[in-house]
Amino acid sequence: MFPNLKADIRRNLRDYLPAGPLKRAALCLSLNSIHAVALIRFQFWCAQHHVPTIFAAKLLFWFFKIEVSKLATIGPGLRLPHPMGLIIAPHSSIGPDCDLYADVRLVLAHGAKKGPTLGAHVFMGDGAKAVGAVTIGDHAIIGVSSVVTKDIPPNATAVGIPARIISEQNLRCNEAP
Ligand SMILES: CC(C)(COP(=O)(O)OP(=O)(O)OC[C@H]1O[C@@H](n2cnc3c(N)ncnc32)[C@H](O)[C@@H]1OP(=O)(O)O)[C@@H](O)C(=O)NCCC(=O)NCCS
Repeated sequence: MFPNLKADIRRNLRDYLPAGPLKRAALCLSLNSIHAVALIRFQFWCAQHHVPTIFAAKLLFWFFKIEVSKLATIGPGLRLPHPMGLIIAPHSSIGPDCDLYADVRLVLAHGAKKGPTLGAHVFMGDGAKAVGAVTIGDHAIIGVSSVVTKDIPPNATAVGIPARIISEQNLRCNEAP
């Protein structure tokens, strides 16, 4: 829990740097993204240590309307800039340093057991969704309200329903890690 949470906090604070210890502490107390991510990490910690996850799961739902399966995998450096309405299905996988905006859904296809897989540095805009065992490659961008139903290659930008690729080499792939 703690190494991942440390990476999450570091990445969430990155936009506010440089910041002294006092400002960093104030940001940790005020940024919704950090609170939501910390609760998600706490839920995973409970699951790993055979502690009932219901308390963490309920807090996540009551405060943020977020539901994350304890069977999902989430890499370090997660950012949830407007943390609400997120749903992460069982056996979904999120790589390191991803940005998921409000109402992002990673859901199972009907009758399937495996959810979507996101690579590293994936950006999913507000209301973006991925359905089924699709893979979204590293540095991909999924536009607002788009629905991914097929694999998206690394570095691509995809938009629409179903998502179509509008760029194979987006600006995000040049970003610092
Ligand atoms: C995906 C995104 C990055 C594309 O930006 P872009 O590369 O500048 O692309 P453009 O705006 O030039 O649009 C290119 C085409 O895709 C279409 N398009 C862009 N975003 C779309 C979307 N979410 N759904 C459907 N079509 C979309 C445009 O209409 C345009 O179509 P056209 O070529 O037929 O005219 C941007 O639209 C987006 O969704 N950003 C995320 C914003 C977000 O979530 N912000 C959260 C902060 S609150």
